[in-house]
Amino acid sequence: MLRKKLAVLLATAMVAASIVGCGGADQAAAPADGAPAAADDAAAEDAAPAEDAADDAAADDAAEAPAASGDVITVGYAQVGHESDWRTANTQNYQDVFSAENGYELSLIDCDNDNAVQLEAVRNFITQQLDYIVIAPIETAGWDTVLQEAQDAGIPVIIADREIDADASLYDAWVGTNTKNEGVTAGNWLAEYLDGKEANILIIEGSVGASAALGRSEGFDEVAAQHSEWKILDHQSGDFTQDGGQEVMESFIKSYEGQFNVVVCHNDNEAYGAMDAMDAAGITYGVDGDVIIISFDATHDGLQYTLDGKINCNVECNPIQAAVVAEVIQKMQNGESFEATTLVNDEAFVAPGIESQYATTMTEEILAGRAY
Ligand code: AHR
Repeated sequence: MLRKKLAVLLATAMVAASIVGCGGADQAAAPADGAPAAADDAAAEDAAPAEDAADDAAADDAAEAPAASGDVITVGYAQVGHESDWRTANTQNYQDVFSAENGYELSLIDCDNDNAVQLEAVRNFITQQLDYIVIAPIETAGWDTVLQEAQDAGIPVIIADREIDADASLYDAWVGTNTKNEGVTAGNWLAEYLDGKEANILIIEGSVGASAALGRSEGFDEVAAQHSEWKILDHQSGDFTQDGGQEVMESFIKSYEGQFNVVVCHNDNEAYGAMDAMDAAGITYGVDGDVIIISFDATHDGLQYTLDGKINCNVECNPIQAAVVAEVIQKMQNGESFEATTLVNDEAFVAPGIESQYATTMTEEILAGRAY
């Protein structure tokens, strides 16, 4: 078993963030709480496709490079669970990138959205003395002790997908998306679409305590606060699941039938559940309906609904992150400098017939290119 901490100590962690497909000085340093700085909408819009391609190619190369020493690199991934299509795509992506063929032995634990199980999974990785630990944290809070244990054991930790509240000195790198920016994009699109008309909004949030839910709420609320003609009627957690989305929407319909014209769902699976509940209640939605639907994730099926005009706007959260994590690991492995914070770029998509400065209008070609 190789001890990688030495290589990590020798490496000079670049304080400047590497931003995959997203330029902007805002992300130049990892803040003390470990969260990436808020992305700037304009900077994200300006990202050069050529840079995207170059960064993606570099990440792909790193993902495919075998361990420099010829030894297998052992990686533990404490995955959130299997709550959504996004999560399934993310798990598959890790299995593809951290394969035996690529020189890795991946121990992936599905933590079933249970914090205790996730902490135990990380502790097992430490006991097994794996070379690297990757954590997609279920919740932002409660990480200090176990991260200290990993650090004491000399095992580098990469936080992926979501953010945590712990001091950045307790882990080595962070890779993920800017969920606050996703919420801001959703809000900006709604303001543009409504153009001053009233909005009575219901929000089906993601899992309580998850940074993906907190960030999307924070970003959307920030835009909502600038619109006195908007009213948020209610917000409840649908736990990022289809069943959760349906249950919350059924309860919203009982309380607010006839009073709402916007439903914001924190992921595609919640949106599917909400649409089922509205179908059952005879409520129309989408571009030809009474209710505007905003979703997040932009997975294949979510984009199919967007193309069909059922979801008005779908803000992407990119699950394809493993190659970037592998690139960081390869640099640590080689004793090279590595990125402390890597932001994976997101786009937004709108239904045909909608033109937006914040989102791309959906086409069959875009859907055909969406593998997950
Ligand atoms: O952390 C990413 C979020 O978690 C995705 O939006 C959601 O689908 C997943 O469960």
